[in-house]
Amino acid sequence: MRITIIGSGYVGLVTGACLSDLGFKVVCLDKDEQKIRALQEGEVPIYEPGLKELLARNRADGRIRFTTDACEAIEQGDVLFIAVGTPPAEDGSADLGHVLSVASMIGRHLKSFKLVVNKSTVPVGTADKVRMAIAHELAHRGMPTHVFDVISNPEFLKEGAAIDDFMRPDRIVVGVDEGIHKAKSQRMMSDLYASFNRHHSRTVWMDVRSAELTKYAANAMLAARISFMNEIANLADALGADVDHIRRGIGADNRIGYSFLYAGCGYGGSCFPKDTQALVQTAKAHGQDMSVVSATEQVNARQKMLLVERLIARMGPDLTGRKIAVWGLAFKPNTDDMREAPSRVVIRSLLERGARVRAYDPVAGQEAMKALQDDCVGQDHLLKAFELAVNEMQALDGADALLILTEWKNFHNPDFEGIKALMRHPYILDGRNLYNPQALFEWGIAYQGVGRRNAL
Ligand code: UGA
Repeated sequence: MRITIIGSGYVGLVTGACLSDLGFKVVCLDKDEQKIRALQEGEVPIYEPGLKELLARNRADGRIRFTTDACEAIEQGDVLFIAVGTPPAEDGSADLGHVLSVASMIGRHLKSFKLVVNKSTVPVGTADKVRMAIAHELAHRGMPTHVFDVISNPEFLKEGAAIDDFMRPDRIVVGVDEGIHKAKSQRMMSDLYASFNRHHSRTVWMDVRSAELTKYAANAMLAARISFMNEIANLADALGADVDHIRRGIGADNRIGYSFLYAGCGYGGSCFPKDTQALVQTAKAHGQDMSVVSATEQVNARQKMLLVERLIARMGPDLTGRKIAVWGLAFKPNTDDMREAPSRVVIRSLLERGARVRAYDPVAGQEAMKALQDDCVGQDHLLKAFELAVNEMQALDGADALLILTEWKNFHNPDFEGIKALMRHPYILDGRNLYNPQALFEWGIAYQGVGRRNAL
C-alpha cells in the first residue's frame, strides 16, 4: 500500500514521517515550492522534537519523498491523506477552502480507485462536501463517479510530543460510511494501522460524521477541563486553598483522572482556541447552544490576562518606567508555535501600559518577534520597548517582575540566588506553577502562582 499525504504542514509531515518509518512508501505533496525544495534538501520547516531525524532517516532509505507534482503524487498513492489547514474564518467557523480545493484537485487527477482519508480537523459534514467536489470533477471528465471513498481519520497529536503520540496512540478513530467500498476501506485502514493493533485493537470504528465530531468533542473536553481548573484555581486563591492539592484530590478519582488538570495562565495553540470556536459555530448553525464550550473560551480569554491584572494590583495601571522580564513565549514547551500563545496578549498589554519588556524563550524567540510585529502593526513605539534576551538570566537584569508563561524544562530549577541579585525587585508571577511557594518565601522572593497557597 502506497501513501500520498496532501499538505506538508505539521500534521502532514508527522503523519508522513511516521508512516514511512513503519515501512510504507510515502509521497508528501504540497503546492508551496519553496517548502518542498527545503524538505528535499533535508530542512524541516517546523520545530518538532525527533521529526527532522525521522524524515532524514526515511528519506535516505527512499521511503519518503516530497513533490509539488499533484498528478504524479495522486497517481502514486493508494491512500490519499488530506492534511491541509482549516484556519478560522471571520466568524470563527472553520474555513474549508484548502480542503475543498484539494478535493477538486484529486477529482481532476484520479484515474483508479483511491481511498481519500481526511486528517484535517473539519466540521461535521465535510466528508460529504469532499465527496461531492471529487465526484463533480470526475463527472466533468466523463469518468464514473464511484471510484473512490472518503473517510475520516482525525489526528490527536500534541505538538512537542507528536511522534510519540502517533507511534503510541491511545486510540485511532476511523469513520467509514455505508456504501459499496466500506469493506475495502476498512481493510485498507486496518492494514495501515496494523502495527498499533497487534496486542489489542486500538481502532474505534464509527461512521464519518461521528468521527468528525469526535475530534471536536475531544479538544473541547480537554479545553473545558483546563478552564474549569483555572476557575477553581482563582477561587482557591480567593479562599487561601491550593489548587495543586485539589488537582491530586480529584485526579485520584478514576472517573476524572490526572491529566489536563493543570491551572495556569490559559491555553493557546492552533487547536483548542480554533476548534472550540468552530464547534460553537457549528452548533449555532444547527440551532444549538454550546454553553459549556462558550464559557470555556470566555474563561480562557480572562485567564490569559490574570498575570497582568496581578501586576497591576501590585504596581498600579501605569507601568511606565517598569522593566518586566518574561520567561517563555511559545504556547507550550518544545515548540516554537506562537499561535494564540498567552504571551502575545500579556506582552502587548504590558507594552500598552508603558512597561519595557525583555523576554526569553529557548526556541520561539524569532517566531515571537514576528507574532508581536503582527500584533502591533502601526504601533512601532510599542515594539521599541520589547527586546529578546539571549538567555533567561539576561532577561532579569534590573527587572521589577518576572512573568513565567511557558514551562520549559530549563526554567524548572533556576538559580534563585542569581535571580535575587539581578532583579531590581525579586517578584515572580508564575503562570505555570513551577515552584514551591514555601521555598520561594525562604529565598526572600515575592511569589505568586495560579491557585497556589502562599507561604504565610
Ligand atoms: C491539542 C490536543 O491535546 C491534541 O490531542 C490534539 O490533537 C491537538 O490539540 C490538535 O487538535 O491538533 P496541542 O494544541 O498541541 O494539542 O497542545 P496541548 O498539549 O493539548 O496544550 C494546549 C494548551 O493547553 C497549551 O497552551 C497548554 O499550556 C495548555 N494546558 C494543557 C494547560 O493549561 N493545562 C493543562 O493541564 C494542559
